[in-house]
Amino acid sequence: MTKKVDDFRLKFGKQELVPIMIGGMGVDISTAELALEAARLGGVGHVSDAMLPTVSDRRYDTGFVKEKLKQYKYNIDNSDKTQIKFDLGQLAESTRLHVSKTMERKRGSGMIFINIMEKLTMNGPRETLRVRLHEALSAGIDGITLAAGLHLGSFALMEDHPRFRDARLGIIVSSLRALQLFLRKNVKTGRLPDYVVVEGPLAGGHLGFGMDWAQYDLRTIVNEIHDFLRAEKLDVPVIPAGGIFTGSDAVAFLQEGAAAVQVATRFTVAKECGLPPDVQQEYFRAGENDIEVNGTSPTGYPMRMLKNSPSIGSGIRPGCESYGYLLDANGRCDYIEAYNREVAAHPDEKKIAVFDKTCLCTHMRNFKCWTCGHYTYRLKDTSRKLGDGSYALLSAEHIFRDYQFSTGNKIALPD
Ligand SMILES: Cc1cc2nc3c(=O)[nH]c(=O)nc-3n(C[C@H](O)[C@H](O)[C@H](O)COP(=O)(O)O)c2cc1C
Repeated sequence: MTKKVDDFRLKFGKQELVPIMIGGMGVDISTAELALEAARLGGVGHVSDAMLPTVSDRRYDTGFVKEKLKQYKYNIDNSDKTQIKFDLGQLAESTRLHVSKTMERKRGSGMIFINIMEKLTMNGPRETLRVRLHEALSAGIDGITLAAGLHLGSFALMEDHPRFRDARLGIIVSSLRALQLFLRKNVKTGRLPDYVVVEGPLAGGHLGFGMDWAQYDLRTIVNEIHDFLRAEKLDVPVIPAGGIFTGSDAVAFLQEGAAAVQVATRFTVAKECGLPPDVQQEYFRAGENDIEVNGTSPTGYPMRMLKNSPSIGSGIRPGCESYGYLLDANGRCDYIEAYNREVAAHPDEKKIAVFDKTCLCTHMRNFKCWTCGHYTYRLKDTSRKLGDGSYALLSAEHIFRDYQFSTGNKIALPD
């Protein structure tokens, strides 16, 4: 008989879940509302920890960004941003607010995790990451997915937290080597990850590959990781991600031994998703040639996005006095350097254009960097076109259930 995703279960101890995980999408693209739906339907949803102070201002009426800007206003015209630091108390408070307010609303038998990216180095990588990890655990998150980085020290940073052993902790890797490094570094904590998300080259957001991403293949990496874990007798659930577009795509991985799948792109056109509706129409309309992987992210990782993202070529002033999430341990960011170079080259120009890098904080905050998965061009096949030429947004429940119950590579259209 043809299998469907619902014939499988993701098991965490005694808990059984629908093996569908909606991946974290920063900055508040994977909203609390989206994660809550995944949990209500018995799967796993993610909120994102990216830029929580500004997310908190928008959602919970706090004034973190204003306060930070007030403190560092004097530095706006200075090309050197090394003095800009995060107030750890405010950072903790924003994490606490977002996580606790989300968890209070949780219904159903599923779980809500938080996606925490190491690349958000915040001019103080260790202290800021420690605060974010600890506060998420203290505020009652069900689990943490360590993302965008090798996270060689992240378990150790949480080791002294009372929930270190009962919260679900997982990591995203894009190669066997990254997983091996992580496991080796964490031997001394005496704790294995509860799951490993294996993200292939077709995912949205940042890619864990170089610009040669097209030479890699998710299935091959998943198989290598399965073989390694089996050989080492390590029982760690493996969760493939990146380009799993239909229930049948998911079933193929589940039949090959995956514990669940992580998906995201299909949910970018959900009503509960944080992208503004006009941006969601851009995702629907996109054709295959409208999507590219480029090097504009100052993180150094390639990123997939729509070619018409307003972030590309934008030469706005670096917004570090308000944000500054990508400032490295020395207070530097590649965008600042690219911007300063263009300003120096065009001293009389009012409007600067910067093409090689982007001010990712400001543009992600304002939904102007339209990052997306490879199969975004298929989103138009998942909905109906309305009389005015736009596409109908879908409910997260519709998309979730389509993954859960569809067979034969079919995609159910909304009523
Ligand atoms: C709009 C968008 C934003 C994303 N942002 C993040 C992020 O902040 N952190 C992260 O680890 N992954 C991020 N991802 C990757 C997803 O969590 C997920 O692993 C991947 O996109 C799954 O592949 P799919 O989109 O083809 O289903 C993002 C993906 C999309 C589409």
